[in-house]
Amino acid sequence: MTRFARLRKRTSSGLALAVALVAVGIGYSVAAPTSSAQESGLSVEAMAGQELFENGCITCHGRNLQGVEDQGPSLIGVGEASVYFQVSTGRMPLAQQEAQAQRKAPVYDDTEVNQLMAYIQANGGGPEMPSEGDLRDGDLAEGGELFRLNCASCHNFAGRGGALSSGKNAPSLNPSSDLDIYTAMLSGPQNMPVFGDNQLTPEDKRAIINYVQTLKETADPGGLSIGRAGPVPEGLVIWVVGIVGCVIACFWVGTRS
Ligand code: HEC
Ligand code: HEC
Repeated sequence: MTRFARLRKRTSSGLALAVALVAVGIGYSVAAPTSSAQESGLSVEAMAGQELFENGCITCHGRNLQGVEDQGPSLIGVGEASVYFQVSTGRMPLAQQEAQAQRKAPVYDDTEVNQLMAYIQANGGGPEMPSEGDLRDGDLAEGGELFRLNCASCHNFAGRGGALSSGKNAPSLNPSSDLDIYTAMLSGPQNMPVFGDNQLTPEDKRAIINYVQTLKETADPGGLSIGRAGPVPEGLVIWVVGIVGCVIACFWVGTRS
C-alpha cells in the first residue's frame, strides 16, 4: 500500500465515523423526547405540572419527588388532595424554612394547581379530591358533635384556632373554604392528624364542614349592627326607636279621643 492510499483509507474511515456520529446524534435528539414522554406515560396536564414543579418545587422536594434532606419531605403518595390544600392556601411554595408553613396569597392559579395535582398524583397516587357536589350537605348537629370530638382540642370550640407546643399553632378556620377543610382532613398537614375515610366517612366530613361554616356565619355578632359595633348599640337604637314609637302612638291615641 502506498502512503497515499493509506492516507486516503484513514481519512475515509474518519469521515465515515464522523458521519455515523452525526447520524446517531440527530437520531437521538429526534427520538429521545418522544420516547421519554411515552415512557413517563404522563398526561398533557401532568407534564405541564412537571414543568411547574421543576421551576418552583424541585429545590426542596427533589427531582423525583423523593424529598431533599433538611429542605422538604418526599411527595410520593401524598396525593392530589394534599397538593390542593398546600398550594391553594398559599402554604406552598414555602418561601423560607420556618417552624410552620403559613397561609398566604396563592402563587398559582386554578389551572396551575390542577396541573401540579395531576403531576404529583401520577407519582405514587394517594388521597384524591372529593367527588363533585355540595360539601356542606351533612347533618349539622352530628357535625357539631364530630367537631367537638375530633377538632376542637386544637382548633378551639369556635374554630378560632389555638397554640400548640414548640411555637406551632392550629390556625383559625375563618379563611378556610369547604374544599380547604375537606383536603386538610384528608391530608393532615403538619401536626394535624390524617382523618382518612375510615375514621371520618365522607358524610362525617360533610357534616363537619357544614358545622364549621355555619358556626362562622352565626358567630358574626352584628347582622345589621351599626358599624359592626356589636349588640349593645344595636339594642340602644331599638330602645330609642321603640320609645319614640310609643310616644307617637300615645299622641295619636290622645288626639283621637
Ligand atoms: C423552600 C422549600 C420548599 C419549596 C420551594 C416547596 N416546598 Fe413543599 N414542603 C416544604 C416543607 C418544609 C414541607 C413540610 C411542611 C410542614 O410540615 O409544614 C412541605 C410540604 C409539602 C406538601 C405536604 C406533603 C404531605 O406530606 O402532605 C406538599 C403537597 C408540598 N409541600 C408541595 C409543594 C409544591 C407543589 C411546591 C411547588 C409549588 C412546593 N411544595 C415547594 C418545603 C418546600
Ligand atoms: C392535633 C391538633 C389538630 C387536630 C386534632 C386537628 N387539627 Fe386541623 N390543623 C392543625 C394544624 C397544626 C394545622 C396547620 C397545618 C399547617 O399549617 O401546615 C391545621 C390546619 C387545619 C386547616 C387549615 C386552615 C386554613 O388555613 O385554611 C383546616 C381547615 C383544619 N386544620 C381543619 C381541621 C378539622 C376539620 C379537624 C377535625 C376533623 C382538625 N383540623 C383537627 C392541627 C389540628
